[in-house]
Amino acid sequence: MFMITWLFVLHSTSSEDTALELDHNLLPNSKHFSTFDESSSVVKDQNSESSFANRAILLVDNENVEANYKTKQIPETNYNPKCSSMHAKVVLKVFMYDLPSEFHFGLLDWKPEGKSVWPDIKTRIPHYPGGLNLQHSIEYWLTLDILLSELPESASNSRTAIRVHNSSEADIIFVPFFSSLSYNRYSKMNKVLQDKLVKYLTAHEEWKKSGGRDHLILAHHPNSMLDARKKLWPATFILSDFGRYPPNIANVEKDVIAPYKHVIRSYVNDSSSFDSRSTLLYFQGAINRKDGGHARQQLYSLLKDEKGVHFSFGSAQRDGIRKATEGMQSSKFCLNIAGDTPSSNRLFDAIVSHCVPVIISDEIELPYEDVLDYTKFCIFVRTRDALKKKFLINFIRSIGRDEWTRMWSKLKEIENFFEFQFPSKEGDAVQMIWQVVARKVPFIRLKINRSRRFLRSLHGKDMGLKSIL
Ligand SMILES: *[C@@H]1O[C@H](CO)[C@@H](O)[C@H](O)[C@H]1NC(C)=O
Ligand SMILES: *[C@@H]1O[C@H](CO)[C@@H](O)[C@H](O)[C@H]1NC(C)=O
Ligand SMILES: *[C@@H]1O[C@H](CO)[C@@H](O)[C@H](O)[C@H]1NC(C)=O
Repeated sequence: MFMITWLFVLHSTSSEDTALELDHNLLPNSKHFSTFDESSSVVKDQNSESSFANRAILLVDNENVEANYKTKQIPETNYNPKCSSMHAKVVLKVFMYDLPSEFHFGLLDWKPEGKSVWPDIKTRIPHYPGGLNLQHSIEYWLTLDILLSELPESASNSRTAIRVHNSSEADIIFVPFFSSLSYNRYSKMNKVLQDKLVKYLTAHEEWKKSGGRDHLILAHHPNSMLDARKKLWPATFILSDFGRYPPNIANVEKDVIAPYKHVIRSYVNDSSSFDSRSTLLYFQGAINRKDGGHARQQLYSLLKDEKGVHFSFGSAQRDGIRKATEGMQSSKFCLNIAGDTPSSNRLFDAIVSHCVPVIISDEIELPYEDVLDYTKFCIFVRTRDALKKKFLINFIRSIGRDEWTRMWSKLKEIENFFEFQFPSKEGDAVQMIWQVVARKVPFIRLKINRSRRFLRSLHGKDMGLKSIL
């Protein structure tokens, strides 16, 4: 069984290039859902039927093979970021577990007073540590937003998600574990907490009722849920990318890609222009990267002597952040090269600096891509093309003032989608992420109903835990 699965993965990886090429212009409109169900799930024709680089489910189980169920994804709406009515109408009912505080605000040195496991956000909001920890702080903003939804003041805000206390009435069951923070700050403790979380969840009726399929779990830092994910995989994860996740545990159909919180401050009142931004292409980042890292090294050799290119290796600490801010705000284009994972906060730093991102990361997944056309404000180049002599620099030089200015304006229009804040505001990252979750809900219901078909005849009512890998 494992053999089959992994052979399948390897095979599909080797055919990825062609698949990407074929599908390039069709995506994302041609996305299909594939099923993922512990008992079944087959992808038959890898090239034409699976989506995004074959990141569909590759779990093969000979004993119980069902037909591959496919359905078209929710059609792309004419999405207009300025159209407020759309934001206001989608409402997601969220049941949030009252997890012990050691899983969330306790990690921020907050101690419960009285019975509540939650801080009283009217009086004091525990502070999330700054610096690079912040880039994965999605857990914190989403949880605060759910807590806020219970206060009467929040009714005046436009909001997408509200907390409900009866789980039968909820669209989604939210698990408020600050896994990224726990990994960043207390990596040993993180493993213990993951085990505890699995025990906690699987003992609860909500999990048993759906086998976890309607649960939403945060794992934005790629290493934050390395253990628990093998058991909690039926849930929807909030991730930064799929780089370290096997496709049967996480994939673009089931899971939600959330942006990093940018570490560079937004460029307010940007009145720069094509001509005033003196650097053509900017990159600052670490060089000692694993996996995707050799591309960085090669690009460095290709670009370092080109006119207008700033390419340097440096860390994003302190002075690094100040320099990067200046650098990105005075550059026309900002390079995004895959590092040890396909995504990085650099993309979001570039967006809020209105520096047109040039993305060289074949496996990257982008937040809200079902409603947002990134080609309007980003340049995508395949790695193998970028590594051809002169290709990248000629490509970038071919983009003239008008085209660049259109992309720059678009960046200013959409940057709010990547802003995390409290209280959250209309159309910001918090609301956008809830909307992505809301769009997954019909699919989650379908999965749950399908998974119930054979319950009566075989295993009894309890959909417990089944570990994979
Ligand atoms: C929760 O909601 C369900 C469905 O609406 C209802 O049948 C049930 O009585 C509710 N439970 C409580 C404790 O209110
Ligand atoms: C941006 O411009 C607005 C209006 O012109 C002004 O009120 C605000 O202070 C400016 N902000 C910054 C950071 O310069
Ligand atoms: C799943 O079943 C419920 C009844 O339990 C029904 O209300 C719902 O519409 C079904 N969902 C789908 C997607 O068929």
